[in-house]
Amino acid sequence: MFSARRQLVNSFRQFSTSAINNYKVTVLGANGGIGQPLSLLLKLNHKVTDLALYDLRGAPGVAADVSHIPTNSTVKGYTPENDGLAQALKGSDVVIIPAGVPRKPGMTRDDLFNTNASIVASLAVAVADNSPNASILIISNPVNSTVPIVSEVLKSKGVYNPKKLFGVTTLDVIRASRFISEVASTDPTKEQVTVVGGHSGITIVPLISKTVHKDVAKDTKDALIHRIQFGGDEVVKAKDGAGSATLSMATAGARMANSVLAGLSGEKDVIEPTFIDNPLYKSEGVEFFSSPVTLGPDGVHEVHGLGTISAEEEELIKTAKETLKKNIQK
Ligand code: 2OP
Repeated sequence: MFSARRQLVNSFRQFSTSAINNYKVTVLGANGGIGQPLSLLLKLNHKVTDLALYDLRGAPGVAADVSHIPTNSTVKGYTPENDGLAQALKGSDVVIIPAGVPRKPGMTRDDLFNTNASIVASLAVAVADNSPNASILIISNPVNSTVPIVSEVLKSKGVYNPKKLFGVTTLDVIRASRFISEVASTDPTKEQVTVVGGHSGITIVPLISKTVHKDVAKDTKDALIHRIQFGGDEVVKAKDGAGSATLSMATAGARMANSVLAGLSGEKDVIEPTFIDNPLYKSEGVEFFSSPVTLGPDGVHEVHGLGTISAEEEELIKTAKETLKKNIQK
């Protein structure tokens, strides 16, 4: 059973000062809206000893800036000059990819496909060539499609390891904690909601039946689920053309990276929901799906099923799977 308490511990353990191992972490797209705060949070993570920041431009500036923070890691910024992408990736244990363009009001994540798919595919080629053993965390949208794209690139290069490719859905998890706490007037740091499916609209399925709030009134529950599914749109609207979630997404990415590092370093019972090459619904043609995963020294250690869920949630999963199938095929 993946415990709520364990997920809670995950969100705090990144700032513990006892460094056990040395890890190189690379951010591809480090000068962007997500990349900058993500780089900052990774500089504050004591598990990271070598931080490599890559972007088409500006990454050396971000690197110089965060390098003044007195934690143990060394930081270096790279651009395409002097084989920078390869240098940033060589020897990396964890590669995080937030590169790409964000949404504008009225757009869905799927509308980003044409631009971001090619960016992510070309970065995946570089990862395959330079750090084929790294754990790869994909933030670039549409995650439901970019993760399968990366898997295809890695397969074509003969280096695909399904245990080490993760779509970051952690923002849906942290939004769920926050939004449920607003409904229930509780402490958001103590709220843990398992969110499964994908990372876009109706493919995002929060399993409220597994929380202590399972008996909340139907209207309230439906509104809560809708808000978790479409929370990203609130930010896109409020930013009014200036992009989508960056700060909360960086927080989510840093938490997921920390959990992957915790697993690599041999910590036990590290569990996060994440969008992976997942056996759960493969027989139905859904190759990728987000469900709770125990992370370990080799990446994915164990994939957990959804257990008993409510009839309404069964329906939500059914709808999610239909959309996911199309997103993955795309
Ligand atoms: C979100 O959920 C940007 O996909 C991101 O807001």
